Amino acid sequence: MKLGFIGTGKIASSVIIGICNSKIRYEQIIISRRNKKISKKLNKRFKKILIAKNNQEIINKSNWVFLSVTPKVGEKIIKDLKFKANQTIISFISTINLRQLKKMIKVKSKIVRAIPLPPISLKKGPVPICPPNKKVKKFFDQIGSTIEIRNEKLSINFWAISGMMASYYEILKVISNWLVKKGIKRLDAQKYITSLFLALSEDAVVNSKKELKFLVKDSQTPKGLNEQGLNEMSNKNVYKSLINTLNSIHKRLNK
Ligand SMILES: NC(=O)c1ccc[n+]([C@@H]2O[C@H](COP(=O)([O-])OP(=O)(O)OC[C@H]3O[C@@H](n4cnc5c(N)ncnc54)[C@H](OP(=O)(O)O)[C@@H]3O)[C@@H](O)[C@H]2O)c1
Repeated sequence: MKLGFIGTGKIASSVIIGICNSKIRYEQIIISRRNKKISKKLNKRFKKILIAKNNQEIINKSNWVFLSVTPKVGEKIIKDLKFKANQTIISFISTINLRQLKKMIKVKSKIVRAIPLPPISLKKGPVPICPPNKKVKKFFDQIGSTIEIRNEKLSINFWAISGMMASYYEILKVISNWLVKKGIKRLDAQKYITSLFLALSEDAVVNSKKELKFLVKDSQTPKGLNEQGLNEMSNKNVYKSLINTLNSIHKRLNK
């Protein structure tokens, strides 16, 4: 199978690294010249990668085409490209919906929207796909864990959550910087914070069949430090503000 990527940026390169380090069988990966630096790097690092002259060449040479450009670029270029009816097109584009994609792509190819996130380069993380598709599910299951979603309206909720990645990393950054200001060496601070949050997340995964409120409860001692931390942050509406942010990202996705 030949896999083509229109747009070689952050998410395309993460998926490509995941594929190249997995057991997925593919004949060739055909990528865009853009971004020049990233495409050159991928071409140097992995065999079976071809940098195409233009986007149409990628489509002509591929069985599956991954759309990994920003919405603005997608709106500009997709309508002028000629796809084949027997192709599977997988769009990573956040704010172009299935109805709009069908209109732009014109031929009756299979179109699936997917939400991989950068840890896919480590073959980790969930990949919601909509609509369900057996072959696409099998593919992403080899570099992450696929969640099939029947209804596009429901899948928008997962897109909203995907917008919380940077704010999560900002928390790690802010508390690492706090340690640094207190005199801890930056590398030590970052090692401590990242391994602490990894351990907490692993514990949460192990306990994810129970309601998460039990983890919140079990990590507080009465009158202890965690109880103080949670109460102060709740009183300052930090968690309400999280919900407000999710609602406003969700609103943008529904436009
Ligand atoms: N990053 C994520 O975690 C993530 C997760 C899920 C979905 N997505 C979605 O995936 C899409 C891409 O996001 P990204 O973060 O990967 O963005 P990005 O890093 O900016 O990548 C976009 C790529 O498109 C290239 N490009 C621009 N114009 C082009 C054209 N006319 N033809 C071909 N390629 C062109 C850019 O090249 P230049 O650098 O040369 O302009 C760049 O390599 C977005 O729609 C985003 O919503 C992203």
